[in-house]
Parts: sequence; C-alpha cells; structure tokens
Amino acid sequence: MAYTSLYRKYRPNTFSKVIGQDHVVKTLVNQITSNTVGHAYVFTGTRGTGKTSVAKIFAKAVNCLEPVNGSPCGKCKNCLDLALDGNFDIIELDAASNNGVDQIRDIVDQVNYNPIGKYKVYIIDEVHMLTKSAFNALLKTLEEPPKHAIFILATTEVNMVPATILSRCLRFDFRLVSTKLLVEHVSKIFDEETIKYEPAAVELIAQAGKGSVRDTLSIADMCISYCMGDITYNGVLEVLGANDPETIERFIVNIINGDLEGSLNLIDELCAKGKSVTVLTQDLAEAIKNIIYIKLCKDAKNLVTLPTDVYTKYKELGKSLTVQRGLQMIEKLNSLYAQYRISTQHRIIFESAILSLASNEAQNEVDLLKRKVATLEKAVAGGVQVKAAPQQAKVQAPRVEVWSTIVKELERRGYGFLALAATDVEVEETDSSFTVKVADKSKYEMLTSTTKPVGTINSKSNREVINEIFSGISNKKLDIVCEVKVNKDTALPYVKEMFGNRLNTK
Ligand SMILES: Nc1ncnc2c1ncn2[C@@H]1O[C@H](COP(=O)(O)OP(=O)(O)O)[C@@H](O)[C@H]1O
Ligand SMILES: [Mg+2]
Ligand SMILES: [Zn+2]
Repeated sequence: MAYTSLYRKYRPNTFSKVIGQDHVVKTLVNQITSNTVGHAYVFTGTRGTGKTSVAKIFAKAVNCLEPVNGSPCGKCKNCLDLALDGNFDIIELDAASNNGVDQIRDIVDQVNYNPIGKYKVYIIDEVHMLTKSAFNALLKTLEEPPKHAIFILATTEVNMVPATILSRCLRFDFRLVSTKLLVEHVSKIFDEETIKYEPAAVELIAQAGKGSVRDTLSIADMCISYCMGDITYNGVLEVLGANDPETIERFIVNIINGDLEGSLNLIDELCAKGKSVTVLTQDLAEAIKNIIYIKLCKDAKNLVTLPTDVYTKYKELGKSLTVQRGLQMIEKLNSLYAQYRISTQHRIIFESAILSLASNEAQNEVDLLKRKVATLEKAVAGGVQVKAAPQQAKVQAPRVEVWSTIVKELERRGYGFLALAATDVEVEETDSSFTVKVADKSKYEMLTSTTKPVGTINSKSNREVINEIFSGISNKKLDIVCEVKVNKDTALPYVKEMFGNRLNTK
C-alpha cells in the first residue's frame, strides 16, 4: 500500500480537529450557526497553519443542511452531493499556477449559475500571486457578488494583496501553533498510528516545526522512516542534523574551562562531519538556556523536556556555570545570527565567538571569583565575624546588563545598525564613570558620531541617542573609547622585526 504522508492523512475535516486557531474557528462557527456568513474572506498566516483546511471545512459547512457544531455533517444530501463528480459548488484555484486574468474570468463568469447546494464557494489559494489585471477582474465580482457566492482568499503574503481587495473581505489571521499544542497533536497521531516514541523526541519534533503544523508533521514523517517506528531523542536529532547532547556538553565544558585548543578541535571535528555552524550556534544556545532553567527553576522538568540522562548531565554542568556567564554566552551566540546574515564566513565568525567566550579574560573573572570564595570560606571556617556591608546608596544593575539594555533600546527605536555596532564591546565601570571599549575603528566612529544623519527622520546624532538612553539608566559619565587589542604573543615578532634585536624584551 502506498504511504500517505501524515499531513495529508490528518487533514482536519471538522472544525474541532483544527488546532491552535480557536479565534478563527469560533467566529466562523458562530457565523454558520447563526446564518450570518459573509461573501468574502481573507485567510492569512504562515504556511501549514490551516488556511486551506479551514477554507475547505467552511465551504462544506455553509452548504450542509444539518451542520454539527458548525461543521459539515457528512451525511446530508448536500454533503453527499459535494463528493460527486460534476459538482462545482466548491471551486479551488491555485493562484500560484493560474495567476492570469483569463483564469479569473473563467471562474467569475460562472459565478451567476445557481449552486446545486446552498452556496458556490471559491477558494483561491496563494491569492497574492495574481496579476494586476486578474485582481481587477476579481475585484469587480467582489464588489457585487450574487447572494449564493462566497470567496475565500488564502495567502501567506497579505501585504501583497491590493487594499481594494482587502477592504471588501473579512480578514482572519492564522497564528503559529504553540509547541505545546504541536506536541499533543503529534503524540496523538503517533498513538493512533501505534508508533512508539520518547516524549522528549516528540518535543524536539514540535520545536523544529516552528509553529507550522504541516512542517511538524513532515518532520514526524521523516523520523518515522528514519527510526523505523520507534522514535528516539537521538534519532530525531540525527534527522534534524542537530548535535547530540554529549557533543554539546563537551563544547560547554571546553568554554567553561577556557580550553581554546579543545574548542577549535571540536569545531573542526564537527565541521568535518558536515555539521553546520548555524545549527551548532542554535543547539549551544538552546542547551545553555536549558542548563540555566534547570539551575534556577524547581519545576524545570516541566519546562524543558529532555531525556533523563541528559537532564542529569545538564544539572551537573550547571554547577560550574554562573547564570550571569550563561546569559553572556547566549547573548553572544544570538548576536551571531546578524553576522551570519551579512557574511559567508560563518565558520570564522563562529570560531572567533567561541574563542572570545572561552578566552582567558572570562576565565580571569571566574578565577577571581573562585579566589574570593576561597578566602571567604577560610574566613568563615576560622570563625571570623562578618561585618554588615555598608548600605549602598542605589542598587546597581551589573554593567553587562546596563549595556545590553542600551543595545536593546537602540534596536527598539529602530537604530538597527547602531545596535549591531554596539553589541561586541567591552564595558568597565568605576564609581563615577562607565567606559565602553570598542575594538573596531569603524564601529567606534559609528558609536561616537556627533553629526546628525542627513535625509533621515532621525533628529539626533548617534552619540546623542546613546547618551539619552544611558542617562535614563545611570547617572555616571559615559565614555566610549577605541581600544584595538594587540595580542602580545603574536605582536612581538613583528615589533622585533621593526626594531631589530635592539629591543629588550622580557
Ligand atoms: N491548524 C491546524 N490544525 C490541524 N492540522 C493542521 C493545521 N494546520 C495545518 N494542519 C496540517 O497541515 C496540513 C496542511 O495544512 P493547510 O491547511 O494546507 O495549511 P495552509 O493552507 O495554511 O498552508 C493539513 O493537511 C494538516 O494535516
Ligand atoms: Mg494552503
Ligand atoms: Zn451535511
């Protein structure tokens, strides 16, 4: 028997089987039960969220003589008639392949013939693909449709549909479906298909579907073929090309330990296996997020679905990772996507990010903290009286957070490039000043520019905007300096070459 893909086999045929679109379903069902259906609808939203499915259910429901809770009964004369050859009460047109004025004329010419049932319903999929003249032909009919006609226009790109058309339609926005609902949906389908699965595997499938039911079911399909009916967490990881938890764990341990060589070797190993660094970036950030959840939340088991052994490992890893450092790592990893978009050198970008995360600087901070803790422990063990700390005048946010708040605010205000330039900096703080060190000359110039941009709506210069946001957060003096870092070990040979061996170095 030929295999029917899950997303076809499980196309909902009643409203109650549609998931995640309650706001749409509720309104449509009300219209059917109260007999107040409209003549033109626009269904918009990401692919695979149910636009076509709902259009088909609605088209049958409006024709049904005895709708059950608003859905077609499937038994009455009209429902049975719809299944017959030669019944043209529901007409589907894919505008992606029929986008010309002739095709639209063909269908609208027939709109005046009476339906066999109650309504003639036209479902035009991917309606944004219609040509301008095709839209015009459609518009005429939409302006004065016969009583028995209903148009449902489905599109992923509602911004490409002319306003004249939109203004004549009732608009429904289909939402991305939550991971939770997708997990329930896939689990139910696997149960029905008597396929064994690990809950954590289904969670991965649902996450990878990114809100699209169709994509989720397609991934589930691939996993069924790959795992031969017993769907495991590791099997799904392999199907997705994602990295297994052991690899990710090794990665994080390398970063925490400041093991630069180990980190580079691992990247090389994974790239040789054909893993993509963008996937790696995502997997790492996801894992660190999970580690932080497990570290902070009592009921983390409900928040992150992981196999027990992975969960235990992450819990262990969390002991050597501070939340602050974890957040720093996630922030750094997330900032890479902007760079991936504008460059083809993904591996280099990734490597330098990992190196900077694992570099000594960060390590120094950790060491310093370790030393402080050790001193404290000694003091406490020796029975030292701990004096109350002097009251601070103002509770201060940690400096990294101060700066990342500013970057976010820049982004929110629409200064995208400025925010990007402001991401990769170091910050230092004293009692009276806050210093931002920028390693890149052009980024420095961008951050400190005091000339107002010409021909844009911005009325403030870059530096003014930054100052303004900063002064809302802190009353310190803000310095932005350019500090190109020279690595002593690599710089020394060049310096020696320039000065000859007259140079006396340690
Ligand atoms: N909201 C939903 N509820 C249940 N299944 C859905 C939903 N959205 C999509 N699907 C599944 O995906 C398949 C394709 O959905 P479809 O309605 O064609 O999406 P769209 O038209 O939005 O791209 C359906 O056959 C069904 O299996
Ligand atoms: Mg569709
Ligand atoms: Zn019926």
